[in-house]
Amino acid sequence: MLHSIKTANYRNLDSGILQFSERANFISGRNGQGKTNLLEAIYWLLSLRSKRGRIQDCIRKGESAFHIDANLTFGDLKHRVSLGIEGKSKKLLVDDVPPKRKRDYLENVLVVDFFPEDMLILVMEPGLRRRFIDIACVQHFLPHEDVLRRFKRILIQRNHLLKIPGGPDQGVLESYDRPFAESAAQILATRLHLLRKFGKLTDEIFRDGIGEKYEASLHYYASLDGVPEISSAEDRIEAEKFEEMFLDALTRNRGKDIESGRSSIGPHRDDWGMTLDGKPVRQFASRGEVRSAMFALHLSRFHVLAEKRGIKPVVLIDDVMSELDIKRRMRVLELLPPGQIFLTACDPPPELDKIGSGEMRHFVMEAGVARQVD
Ligand SMILES: Nc1ncnc2c1ncn2[C@@H]1O[C@H](COP(=O)(O)OP(=O)(O)OP(=O)(O)O)[C@@H](O)[C@H]1O
Ligand SMILES: [Mg+2]
Repeated sequence: MLHSIKTANYRNLDSGILQFSERANFISGRNGQGKTNLLEAIYWLLSLRSKRGRIQDCIRKGESAFHIDANLTFGDLKHRVSLGIEGKSKKLLVDDVPPKRKRDYLENVLVVDFFPEDMLILVMEPGLRRRFIDIACVQHFLPHEDVLRRFKRILIQRNHLLKIPGGPDQGVLESYDRPFAESAAQILATRLHLLRKFGKLTDEIFRDGIGEKYEASLHYYASLDGVPEISSAEDRIEAEKFEEMFLDALTRNRGKDIESGRSSIGPHRDDWGMTLDGKPVRQFASRGEVRSAMFALHLSRFHVLAEKRGIKPVVLIDDVMSELDIKRRMRVLELLPPGQIFLTACDPPPELDKIGSGEMRHFVMEAGVARQVD
């Protein structure tokens, strides 16, 4: 739970210390005033990563670093957390001491975010979907970050070999097979495991919760042959089985990979998607339905992560009400998960009093300064 925050040189933000409600915090304000920036700063604090691509874009124009100081409760105690980002260096202090490992801190904090650009996840290029599911896998099981890093390194090295003019040394190329297959299999198995959990809950929330009429299901499109459908995958999908399948595929595709100069099989080439009554969301759904579907997916992420990690994620919802009709807005507000929530919108909705059932603080953001109004 985030009690207070103070940012320095984070984009246009210029407030002093902001004190938050333990339940719901609503931030309104005209376009371009800094509502999203505040949620992004909170995302940084609770994930140690950027919601936007480039760190440079997060720092106020003309400055070289930003700082976020906050009071948080985790592990039943209040802590002072301070994050400083300068160039590529991240400095984190918890109660004035750098934690031994960043993971020691990340084990205690958890954030589920829903930003407008997340709508694009379901409809734009596969890279966005892979990033979404891989971040969720890391949130689910923090050491998974090491697997992703290892796979990325192996992939870069293997692709580099494949591009050597005149062809790579076969022995050297083959020496990459086992480590490639091992980490690729782990990534695939973890993605399937999580998407399976998300899929079941997403449909429940989408239909029973929001009242949509279509059946929502998630699908995984693997570059590797023989990968089962998410819904029919065994409860415990064996990463070892995938490892052998990857080894086979690497041997079979070696000639093709050398010819094209890239690795044709692996989690970096996979995709997943959502269908409504069997039709792909990206071709079929209206904008409101995509928003509603994405909300259901994020909410299922909240519940799955909360159960696995044993802590309630802080929820950031940026501008989700726009494009939803009144019926959907009401349903979404009723479905807001327990715990601490930050919500933004240009104008407070008529249903504002429904948020946080009496435990809500309302801030108005103007030119980077948030002022509490009630
Ligand atoms: N690096 C930066 N330094 C200073 N100001 C920046 C920087 N990057 C963006 N801004 C400013 O931040 C403002 C955008 O803030 P933000 O996206 O949080 O607005 P918002 O209140 O969410 O608006 P909307 O309702 O349109 O979503 C813009 O005015 C932009 O000029
Ligand atoms: Mg915004």
